[in-house]
Amino acid sequence: MKNKFSKSLIFALSVVGSLGAYADCVFEVSVGDNLVFDIQSMEVDGNCKSVSVNLIHTGNLPANIMGHNWVLSKASDLSAIANDGFSAGLDNNYLKPGDERIIAATKVIGGGDEASVEFSIEGLSSDESYQFFCSFPGHWAVMKGSFVVK
Ligand code: CO
Repeated sequence: MKNKFSKSLIFALSVVGSLGAYADCVFEVSVGDNLVFDIQSMEVDGNCKSVSVNLIHTGNLPANIMGHNWVLSKASDLSAIANDGFSAGLDNNYLKPGDERIIAATKVIGGGDEASVEFSIEGLSSDESYQFFCSFPGHWAVMKGSFVVK
């Protein structure tokens, strides 16, 4: 009887533990046929082994008209990455191939699509200012938000 109770307790604790990790390390970001992410800031637990971001395009327009992606970089690198991305074109998801300033990025998607990226935050600092943004030409000026490692 005692043993059975212990097993139940351990099971309950492990469920709570995994739910906690899920809430902190996995994000869903939505955007429609406009230039507005549904969240303006993201806070990530520094203990996350990896972070997953799932981008959902709830609009109807195709990627070449109203494409969106989710890109993470230092705030100070954002405009340079976006400018280089403009030249790279849609075939490269409006990101310069091999750009090491990019910490993580999904592909560019159109309405009705989803894209995910999973990345390590090892090496990111709670003292650094990071931003997420959409690198589609003209979008990044307004489609961006803060990304903080707690
Ligand atoms: Co966009």
